[in-house]
Amino acid sequence: MSHTGLKVLVVDDDPDMLLGCEQALQLDGRLTVGATSVDKALKLIRSDLPGVIVSDIRLPDRDGLSLLAEVQTIDPDLPVILITGHGDVALAVRVMKSGAYDFVEKPFLPEFLVDVVRRGLEKRALTLEVRALRHQLRDQKRLEERIIGHSVGIERVRRLISEIADTQAPVMIHGETGTGKELVAHCLHEASGRRGRFVAINCGGLPESLVESELFGHEPGSFTGATKRRIGKIEYANGGTLFLDEIDSMPVSVQIRLLRVLQERTLERLGSNVSVPVDCRIVAATKEDLVKMGEAGRFRPDLYYRINVVTVKLPPLRERLNDVRLLLEHFVQSSCATHGRPTPEIHPSKIQQLMAHSWPGNVRELRNVADRFVLGIEMAFPPFATTDATLPSLPEAVEAFERAMISDALRKHGMNLSQTAATLRIPKTTLHDKMRKYGLGGE
Ligand SMILES: Nc1ncnc2c1ncn2[C@@H]1O[C@H](COP(=O)(O)OP(=O)(O)OP(=O)(O)O)[C@@H](O)[C@H]1O
Ligand SMILES: [Mg+2]
Repeated sequence: MSHTGLKVLVVDDDPDMLLGCEQALQLDGRLTVGATSVDKALKLIRSDLPGVIVSDIRLPDRDGLSLLAEVQTIDPDLPVILITGHGDVALAVRVMKSGAYDFVEKPFLPEFLVDVVRRGLEKRALTLEVRALRHQLRDQKRLEERIIGHSVGIERVRRLISEIADTQAPVMIHGETGTGKELVAHCLHEASGRRGRFVAINCGGLPESLVESELFGHEPGSFTGATKRRIGKIEYANGGTLFLDEIDSMPVSVQIRLLRVLQERTLERLGSNVSVPVDCRIVAATKEDLVKMGEAGRFRPDLYYRINVVTVKLPPLRERLNDVRLLLEHFVQSSCATHGRPTPEIHPSKIQQLMAHSWPGNVRELRNVADRFVLGIEMAFPPFATTDATLPSLPEAVEAFERAMISDALRKHGMNLSQTAATLRIPKTTLHDKMRKYGLGGE
């Protein structure tokens, strides 16, 4: 790790001393910040402070030892160097016993201070590097539990997520239906450390007239039916992540407006001239080739290039059949937990059969297969036999059948609720309730 960007916080109430220390450190290429009291210094100290603290022990409000004690509650690994009076051996011993990194006795040569600070900064850089690696490992482990698979393609996706999660970079996720685009978007948000919400909008699921107001919000009276002020999804995602699902279906007029928001980092609600600052991370998903759509005039290339800073490509399941076993085991286990059933044994020949399938519905299809397997329901595909010991109850079997039927119909109609409800010949509200019950679909 390079030490650039590491700072030295110098605390001294004597302006000449403060200036002298800061200048000596700056000459050594350090960034410095000065504070004239413990209280002012404490306002600048956080547990991830990339630097060290140099403080006089005698200060007007509280002394350097009490600053040291407070710093240790914020981050015990933060090096604090205290400046003590000449010949006060007893105090120097106390300082070191209290956990200071080192002390400098007055009067001192600037080089002496510079040297102690240099060592302190090296230690700090090492501490922060170890912490970052530890975080990365923890995130990686969490990601491995969420995004299952050991194929090269999935390993690459997980690595990319942990590399870019805590940046501001917009992300474009490409993948066929059921490959895990929404899952990746969620994982990106969770690993980002952003405090705001994860807000998803399906750009294909709404009529053109509604997309604008959904995204940008509106003021009362801005169009017929707009009776109250409404905060749009972009504003709602402030400080968080905005997931633009099926961005390929976004009407061109909305694309232009969105581009402006991304460029200017502010938005105006429909019917308002007031600019609202926005800070949300954009993650978009598409099944279509947006470059081709751009050539055909159906997608704005300028918007594409603005969002496509990082591309995550999710490989279809047929290209990573060696993940089938792991995914099946994972889904079977979670389905058993949901239905309170013992985990059945999966015969290797079943896995062979499954690996021969082309999986047009990708991981979602495999999840449905796992559900059916656990509940012992024979469907047209795949020809799964169950162990008789764990035959499902009638209500469980009915539920699994219902879930599979709804899920298949939703996929067939590209998640369009009206068409799905019509095909299944049930009211849309019933469909909605059932989707929620079975955890199908987006938000
Ligand atoms: N690698 C994976 N590990 C574990 N679960 C996965 C994985 N990929 C997908 N899933 C699961 O499969 C289901 C479908 O994934 P998701 O909804 O993210 O797909 P999608 O690409 O958004 O699909 P669509 O294009 O149809 O909206 C979800 O239940 C998701 O949790
Ligand atoms: Mg999706």
